[in-house]
Amino acid sequence: MSQLPRTIKTSRQTLEAIDLNHAEDLDRAVEVSRSNLERWLAWIEDYSSANERAFIARASEGWDRGEEWVFALVVDGEAVGTIGLDMYNKVLNRAEIGYWVRADLAGRGLVTEAASAVVHWAFANLGLHRIELHAGTENVASVRVAQKLGFRREGLLRDGSKGSFGYYDVYVFGLLENDPRASLY
Ligand SMILES: CC(C)(COP(=O)(O)OP(=O)(O)OC[C@H]1O[C@@H](n2cnc3c(N)ncnc32)[C@H](O)[C@@H]1OP(=O)(O)O)[C@@H](O)C(=O)NCCC(=O)NCCS
Repeated sequence: MSQLPRTIKTSRQTLEAIDLNHAEDLDRAVEVSRSNLERWLAWIEDYSSANERAFIARASEGWDRGEEWVFALVVDGEAVGTIGLDMYNKVLNRAEIGYWVRADLAGRGLVTEAASAVVHWAFANLGLHRIELHAGTENVASVRVAQKLGFRREGLLRDGSKGSFGYYDVYVFGLLENDPRASLY
């Protein structure tokens, strides 16, 4: 996987393999988005600039090791969120996609666009057979992202994820390499 493209261009953003150059922007993005993120993402509780930088360092190593692939969403030169594939299983050729975007930019189709591009990139470059997406049953926006991309709803995990207010149920969505999928980037 050494020749992996580390940048993806979409119509309105650039997805860049995350590195420490994105840290300051992402700090600001998290600070102004806490109330949007905390219900769904448990890491917000322990968020600090130091933890953010440690996460970015691990994610960078993940790229180098071929184990996880996190991109920064860059709009007008500024990092405004992340989207990535983790939980990679090399034997079964599957991984899980996750994302967030700065609150003032939500609802403009940016994550649908980014996720569509990343899904295409992942099937083309990582040899994946299956991408999984877990979305809170009440996380309307995330469920819509999955549906718009062509993911199929396959099941429900009770308390399958955790945010600042506790565990919550998630729908499991799956997309296989040969499933029909939308190109929305
Ligand atoms: C979920 C999230 C990533 C979606 O990103 P986004 O860029 O706002 O999504 P999009 O603008 O591409 O919208 C996708 C769909 O959700 C809908 N949507 C967006 N925000 C919504 C909201 N607050 N309520 C209801 N629907 C919403 C959009 O209308 C769109 O559907 P449509 O095309 O049928 O109109 C973003 O809202 C976010 O960062 N949320 C907090 C973190 C999070 O929940 N991450 C996912 C964990 S599984």
